[in-house]
Amino acid sequence: VAVRYLGGKTRIAKQLADVIDSVREPGQVVWDAFCGGLSTSVALSRKGPVWSTDVNVALVAMYKAIQAGWDPPDVVDEHTYKRARDLPDTDPLKAYAGFCASFGGKYFGGYARGENRNWAAEGKRGLKRDLPGLNVDCLDFMSVSPTPLDVILYLDPPYAGTTGYAVAKSWDSAAFVERVREWSHFCDVFISEYAFTLGECVWSREQLKRATVGPGATAVEKLFFIPKGLYEIDRTVAEAV
Ligand SMILES: C[S@@+](CC[C@H](N)C(=O)[O-])C[C@H]1O[C@@H](n2cnc3c(N)ncnc32)[C@H](O)[C@@H]1O
Repeated sequence: VAVRYLGGKTRIAKQLADVIDSVREPGQVVWDAFCGGLSTSVALSRKGPVWSTDVNVALVAMYKAIQAGWDPPDVVDEHTYKRARDLPDTDPLKAYAGFCASFGGKYFGGYARGENRNWAAEGKRGLKRDLPGLNVDCLDFMSVSPTPLDVILYLDPPYAGTTGYAVAKSWDSAAFVERVREWSHFCDVFISEYAFTLGECVWSREQLKRATVGPGATAVEKLFFIPKGLYEIDRTVAEAV
């Protein structure tokens, strides 16, 4: 559990990690390529190395700043929150305010109030505890050509048709599926999705939704698994390798 995050897997991260760890070789890296609030990365780092990447420049700048010793403020008041939105992505205060002081952990989704909680301080504690053990980089997953890598891929992309992330307003699900198929020629792939056309669902659990919809609504969280080599390599891919 690093920070509260829209679509974050905090409540199920341990269970997801247990499934992924069941096929993990000793010392094998898990690449958490849509790492967001890092909850799954943290759970996976208990059993071995993890590489955590996300396309959000400001988010990764904030993580790297904390790793380098930046001490985030304990309190982010509403004025600071509003002004932080205009900071450059390189300023760690931007993502810290934008996530840790935001309603439901949605990037600048509105100042978090209520419940008598200091959301920023809670986020800070989690980050300072969890970040030292992680390797975090800024990377657009779709920009990486599938290539033989001795990793397990864990993918938690923006869900098609759900509320957008600031940096990923339009998500091309079809292109993503094709990419996943290609990656599965080279490594085991796990995907958190509500539905997915490749592989099979190996774990699911009904969860109460939070923040984005009214009380009582549930969703079934699922984990899909595509074992390495499940799909035949096609000629165009084979020639490119
Ligand atoms: C569902 S969230 C991940 C939540 C995370 N597993 C957690 O527990 O906090 C999806 C993430 O994908 C990131 N993202 C969107 N498009 C991306 C891309 N092309 N490459 C890498 N990350 C991307 C978003 O910035 C967001 O952090």
